[in-house]
This record gives sequence, C-alpha cells and structure tokens, in this order.
Amino acid sequence: MSTKSREIQLVSRPKGEPAPECFALVERDLPDPQPGQVLVRNRYISVDPYMRGRMNDVKSYLPPFQLNEAMTGGAVGTVVKSAEASLPEGTAVLSMYGWREAYVSSPIGLQVVDGSEAPLASYLGALGVTGLTAWIGLFRCASLKDGETVFVSGGAGAVGSIACQLAQLHGCRVLASAGSAEKVRFLEDELKVNYAFSYRDGEPADHLKDGAPGGIDVYFDNTGGPQLEAALWHMRPYGRIVLCGAISGYNTPVPGPRNLALAIGRRLTLRGFIVSDHLAEMPAFLAEAIPALQQGKLLNRETVVEGLENATEAFLGLLRPGDSHVGKLVVKVS
Ligand SMILES: NC(=O)c1ccc[n+]([C@@H]2O[C@H](COP(=O)([O-])OP(=O)(O)OC[C@H]3O[C@@H](n4cnc5c(N)ncnc54)[C@H](OP(=O)(O)O)[C@@H]3O)[C@@H](O)[C@H]2O)c1
Repeated sequence: MSTKSREIQLVSRPKGEPAPECFALVERDLPDPQPGQVLVRNRYISVDPYMRGRMNDVKSYLPPFQLNEAMTGGAVGTVVKSAEASLPEGTAVLSMYGWREAYVSSPIGLQVVDGSEAPLASYLGALGVTGLTAWIGLFRCASLKDGETVFVSGGAGAVGSIACQLAQLHGCRVLASAGSAEKVRFLEDELKVNYAFSYRDGEPADHLKDGAPGGIDVYFDNTGGPQLEAALWHMRPYGRIVLCGAISGYNTPVPGPRNLALAIGRRLTLRGFIVSDHLAEMPAFLAEAIPALQQGKLLNRETVVEGLENATEAFLGLLRPGDSHVGKLVVKVS
C-alpha cells in the first residue's frame, strides 16, 4: 500500500531575494519499501542558509538543486516500515532527505542516532553539523586558545550561538552581534556573552571598539560584508579570521572589505572552510558536546516552525537581516 508524502520542490530560480513562487508543495505516493529498504517519516528538517546557493544554477562545492525535484537538506526521522534487518521500525535516522515528509531508502546515506542522549532535533543543531561547524571553525581553523578575545557575528543564530558558548567554555572573552534587540537580549541574558550589540544599531566598528578595547584575537565570521570590514579594523596582530559564512551577500553580492590590506601589516590569517570536509571529526566534537549539553553547560536553543507547508517562509526569513528566529531553525513535520 502506498504512502502519501508532501515535498517542497524548487520550480524556478530566483534573482536576488527568492519569492515564495520559486517553490511548490507537491504530494507524492511513495511505494512500499522493497527488500533492503525502509520507509522513514521525517520528524524535523533543518533550514539552512547554504540552501540559497543551491538555488542558483552555478558550479559550487555542492551541486545546484534541480528544477521540479524535491529539495534536499538535513533531516531526522524514524523508520516506520522496514524491510531491512539493520534498521528495525522505530530506529531514529539522520539523512539529507529533508524538505519532505517521508521517503523510501536503502541504509546508504542514513545514519542511526541514539535518541536517548538528547532530543532528536538537537542532532540538527548543537549535536549535529551545526555544532560541528562552530567547533571546527574555532578550534581547527582559528586554533582558538583559552582566554582569547573572540567576536562572533550572527551570534544568536544556529552556528553563532554554539560558537559563542564553545568559546566561553574555553575561558574566552566573547563579543557577539545580531540583528535585533530581542536577539541581543538572548545573547546577554541566556548566553551571557561579555558584550552583545545589534549590527543594525550604530556602527559595528564603534561597538567593537567599546567591547574589545584591546582588540580581537579571533573573528568567527558568519556574515561577511560590513561586519567583516568592522572586525578587520580591530584585529590584533597575528589575529585569525574564520570565514564561515557571508550571508549578507547571499541574495545580492556585497563588495569585499575596503580595508583588507590591514591583514598584511597585522599578519592576519583569513581562512575559509566547509564543514563537510571535516565530518571525520564528529566523534571528537561529540565527546565534548554531549557531556556539555547533558550538564547544562551548552544550550541547544531552537526555533521550531510547525508543518512542512511553513518551511519555505521560514527559509526566506532566515535570509533577511533581523529575522525572528533565535538559535537553530528547524521545521517540525506534522
Ligand atoms: N562553512 C560551513 O561549512 C558552514 C556550515 C554551516 C553554516 N555556514 C554559514 O554560517 C552562517 C550561519 O548559518 P546558520 O545556519 O547558523 O544560520 P543562522 O545564523 O541561524 O541564520 C541566519 C541569520 O543570518 C542573519 N542575517 C540575514 N541576513 C543578514 C545580513 N544581510 N547581514 C547580517 N546578518 C544577516 C539573520 O540573523 P540576524 O537577526 O542576526 O540578522 C539570520 O537569522 C551562514 O552564513 C551559513 O552560510 C557555514
């Protein structure tokens, strides 16, 4: 007997900011799993800025989404019908088959998660690729040392909120920026960073001067654009800038920093990275993150949007400055 599943397809490519018309919610019939296959119902899907790049028909580190096909992305779900002994019904699995309610798959590409350690959705956030991104950026790319001064832009977002906390756990002084007063309050009251500011209220460079009079050792850059330029003014000699994301230019490219030449005299290192090159480090990261989460030292803050039909609007919001979500944005599939 077939199973109905709705999925979100890309139906046209955007120029600049994507419109809701770029997407369509389509219902499909899924066949029963054949021997060696399972039927998985997604519980949570991940909503991520990098998906904007995959809407363009350009060569990049990931291939573009195809028109009139379901989009893909991180998801965590449960096996509901199994014809594969290694994945009995009830098994929780991570996959890249997001943006759909259900799917049929072989075990290839499915990763079993132990749902007893933490809530399922945290495997898309603090205990997933999101958390790993923050950890790799800080410790593998920037070689962060205890006690240093760190600035995190996009500090109230998924990666940024974990980066702030991991740096704090290593005794660092943390400055963080976000796009609204509500997010600044989250950074101050819940994450308790040393200095938080809205990059939309005053000049970011003035805030950095106030928050880090002695300069910044590590800048974890989630935004590019004006905040990268502001950070460059305040980097200490031999400082490290981790280029994690450049969301300020994802819809419409922004010019590079006008003061990049400062990197020469100050002997700065600017390093980009892609987390999927570092998945082998997941166990090392989890050895630190799981106990920290269980002991309440690491907060997995989430914004949960209900229903696949609302995923598109949530994704479009993510690409706007000062959007309303705090922490990791996930969609709960009803
Ligand atoms: N290198 C990698 O492997 C890797 C992996 C994962 C993510 N990333 C990157 O890391 C960054 C953060 O990703 P995330 O998943 O944690 O997303 P996120 O921070 O949870 O969400 C994106 C946030 O970006 C901010 N934003 C939107 N437009 C902006 C603009 N014009 N200028 C400044 N901020 C803007 C918004 O927050 P505000 O309210 O603060 O404006 C929005 O909530 C992204 O750039 C992403 O592409 C990189």
